[in-house]
Amino acid sequence: MPDLFSKFDPLIEQRETLLESGVTDPFSLVMEKVESPTVAICNGKRTILLGTYNYMGMTFDPDVLAAGHKALDEFGSGTTGSRVLNGTYVGHKALEQALKDFYAKDHAMVFSTGYQATLGMVSVLGGKDDYILLDIDSHASLYDGCAMSNAQIVAFRHNDVEALEKRLKRLPPEAAKLVVLEGVYSMLGDVAPLKEMVAVSKAAGAMVLVDEAHAMGFIGEHGRGVAEAQGVIDDVDFIVGTFSKSVGTVGGFCVSNHPKFEILRLVCRPYVFTASLPPSVVATAATSIRKLMDSADKRAHLWENSRRLHAGLRQLGFQLGTDQPQSAIIAVIMPDLETGAAMWQALLEEGLYVNLARPPATPAGMTLLRCSLCALHSEEQVGEILGMFAAAGRSTGCIS
Ligand SMILES: Cc1ncc(COP(=O)(O)O)c(C=O)c1O
Repeated sequence: MPDLFSKFDPLIEQRETLLESGVTDPFSLVMEKVESPTVAICNGKRTILLGTYNYMGMTFDPDVLAAGHKALDEFGSGTTGSRVLNGTYVGHKALEQALKDFYAKDHAMVFSTGYQATLGMVSVLGGKDDYILLDIDSHASLYDGCAMSNAQIVAFRHNDVEALEKRLKRLPPEAAKLVVLEGVYSMLGDVAPLKEMVAVSKAAGAMVLVDEAHAMGFIGEHGRGVAEAQGVIDDVDFIVGTFSKSVGTVGGFCVSNHPKFEILRLVCRPYVFTASLPPSVVATAATSIRKLMDSADKRAHLWENSRRLHAGLRQLGFQLGTDQPQSAIIAVIMPDLETGAAMWQALLEEGLYVNLARPPATPAGMTLLRCSLCALHSEEQVGEILGMFAAAGRSTGCIS
């Protein structure tokens, strides 16, 4: 009988070869205890966390935790229903209001994950005669949204304004078009030239959707993201994002000023055909988002951390994903998967957790050690991290 699993054989083989080399599986690490947004116990050892998306360190914020406990007591552990049936509680409306206030936008829709927000928005907007243009390095959820839509898909070179403009000009002027961008690209931590990309999109009559998953809370004066930092937040038609990064919980959203936006609640399948977020999660998200509005000091400290780590790693001789620090993500480029896995393990043994990222998640077949900083990493911790990179880099031969 033909085996449906035979298509996974090359991956199974690659994984077995890697494990035979003595490396522990980088994709099955267990956090035995989490002490704070920056420290956990892994394999019985105190480990500094440098591979979470907890950019603003909100997961243990006392106000956030109190809001979650209160909602759990008052509304129970779950809604057991879709947003369009029994799954909209006062907390979901309060969270949507917090998002409208945070972004100064007219409408907000909360989804059960960030993945579903991007999947839902891209798929529902891309109809049969429409075009979706997307950056080739887009997140899997945006690609999945394209696959689920009925639109024609046109990919363009990463962060290439001219390539986007050329493709827009080739499309029928009367067709509706959606340009899909990210603020910060999560693999290399580089930022999109949103100002220029929004300008060429608008000139061609296209609507623009920006996924600000890795920028929300940190980038921009009020933490609204790259669209705010580059002065185009009023020209972006849809901002999508997640609560699983700076907000410190789980869930996703879209905000917009489009006057017909509310109709999406009836037609967006990843919104309609799934259960809504539990009341405790919704309460933690709303509290966190309101606190992120007034977090300028934390944003400034996170920038300091990012600059310090980038400069230190460069000085040690590592090759990095960007010439300058552009976000809270600093990607260290590894020569191949084997060296990357060995370095990942050496860092873990030193007491540091980073993300090992590999194709297909990474661009151009790269193996990366992705470091994502937190506003609660102290200056001393960043120093400790650099010491661990120096030791692991030398023991694996990554640096001399
Ligand atoms: C750019 C981008 N969009 C969307 C998502 C999905 O968000 P979530 O993990 O909250 O579902 C991610 C997750 O990593 C992401 O990096």
